[in-house]
Amino acid sequence: MSNLKGRDLLGIADLSSDELNQLLTLAKSLKVGDPGPDFSQKSLGLLFKKASTRTRVSFSVAMHQLRGHVIDLYPNVTQVSRGEPVEDTARVLDRYVDVLAIRTFDQSELETFAKYCQIPIINALTDLEHPCQTIADLQTVAETFGKVAGLTMTYVGDGNNVAHSLMLGCALVGMNVRVAAPAGFLPDPTIVAQAEAIAKQVNNSEVIVTNDPKAAVEGAQAIYTDVWASMGQESEADDRIPVFKSYQVNQELMALADKEAIVLHCLPAHRGEEITAEVIEGAQSRVWDQAENRLHAQKALLVSVL
Ligand code: CP
Ligand code: NVA
Repeated sequence: MSNLKGRDLLGIADLSSDELNQLLTLAKSLKVGDPGPDFSQKSLGLLFKKASTRTRVSFSVAMHQLRGHVIDLYPNVTQVSRGEPVEDTARVLDRYVDVLAIRTFDQSELETFAKYCQIPIINALTDLEHPCQTIADLQTVAETFGKVAGLTMTYVGDGNNVAHSLMLGCALVGMNVRVAAPAGFLPDPTIVAQAEAIAKQVNNSEVIVTNDPKAAVEGAQAIYTDVWASMGQESEADDRIPVFKSYQVNQELMALADKEAIVLHCLPAHRGEEITAEVIEGAQSRVWDQAENRLHAQKALLVSVL
């Protein structure tokens, strides 16, 4: 994995197809007991401007298990919330920590960190992408079906950060990917075009964007959804409910998928909105394994970039 050493992960497509597949292999071996390297002299900085349970805790525990150190740079107790220029914060943190995972709004802020830091910068979620989530999602598909290439992933709901990274990630590993979203909430056309280009190059897999959730789910092996209003969009949440109503992942929709299909959700979930309680708690749900895999996937990422 030395080819990822020192590299940033600003978006999932910063990885080549081979690199993403290698990360999945490493994540699997770390999950079954590979202790990984000794990072006792290494420090991971977490700079999160949005709430997080899974990403924050899984990064912290991953680094701890590698015998490394974690510093949570809460914006309100650092100078970050008092307006210190990003360029200055970046150049200073670069001299202290060995890797920085950042959760923020604008992708451009992450790019500024990457420009002013020599250390690896990891996207821990922006408005545009959530690449760490995708690695764990693909790991979950791989451990269920023993492969990823050739299978079909259908994402139903808002064409958001999670959908973007998922589309690109699926294309990179040769999975077909379909996104069903209402008009006005489709994924970013630039991301769709990028996913199409990758899909064509890697495995000629399909990339479909549609307004029809039923057609999108038909015969798919993995059905994925996420919140209808992401962090930063709280004020739109009530208005979005009627728009997204027919995009709920429920038993009726699941009946159209492959009989062996699994259900994925990055969490946190809103039962009765994007997913029913019956489906998330049902036999096809893999959401708890998926959440666990955040730990193994991010450990593989840390091992690779450090
Ligand atoms: N899925 C995910 O990123 O969860 P958190 O917001 O809790 O980190
Ligand atoms: N799309 C969601 C994902 C949360 C993990 C958000 O950005 O809030």
